[in-house]
Amino acid sequence: MKRWSALVVPVLLVVAVSLASPLAVAAQQTIRVGADTAFPPFEFVDEETGEYTGFDMELIRAIGEVMGVEVEIVNTVFDGLIPALLLGEFDVIISAMTITEERAQTVAFSDPYFVTGLVIATRPDETSIQSTEDLKGKTVAVQMGSTGHFAAADLPGVGRVDPYQFVDQAMTAVIIGAADAAILDELVAIEYMRAHPDAIKVVGEPFTTEEYGIAVRPQETELLAKINAALAELRASGRYDELYDKWFGVD
Ligand code: ARG
Repeated sequence: MKRWSALVVPVLLVVAVSLASPLAVAAQQTIRVGADTAFPPFEFVDEETGEYTGFDMELIRAIGEVMGVEVEIVNTVFDGLIPALLLGEFDVIISAMTITEERAQTVAFSDPYFVTGLVIATRPDETSIQSTEDLKGKTVAVQMGSTGHFAAADLPGVGRVDPYQFVDQAMTAVIIGAADAAILDELVAIEYMRAHPDAIKVVGEPFTTEEYGIAVRPQETELLAKINAALAELRASGRYDELYDKWFGVD
């Protein structure tokens, strides 16, 4: 009597497992992720597909894959991201957001996933601006609530700091001459210079070092641990490097 059970039990197990996996997929969770999706090449809308794309967007989807969850992007102005996270409108922020001490008092950051810095961008014919010193008396355009905004406000002698809701507006202010320069994240500035070589140039090297982190509400320690584990796995598997090369590699 015992003989058949040795066979039947494993068969039943296989059946149970194969039934369970489609069910598990169907029951897959979704995490809502806030981003200011107007920050190329980190987050922007692909004009052909209408989809959110960019380094951050692909990274968070890859993190979602490792975690076994669906990722839903919630577009939100940069300045409103942390308040909306704290209100529970979404559970995660990925938005080229620099880990700062001040922000770390209200949100918890993942391990850093990107190292970069702030640069000055100006018009190609503007030769009097070579460094932050030269911004004395000048009008500087920034994205509201960004580290570029804080840095500009801290520079001694700057004539005026004009904050704009979107980085694109700050760059337009430079292009049309409403501002003398902008302060923003290096790779975004480079992207604008590539897109508008006659209108924008990047001045020198970054004058800060900043690390981007993924943010969650401080009490979400389990979620944060999963994000960090997924990040580590993507780095170990080479997937992170693939993404990096795709978006920032020299071609
Ligand atoms: N790294 C800068 C900061 O954290 C700018 C980030 C802006 N990101 C965006 N998606 N608009 O303040």
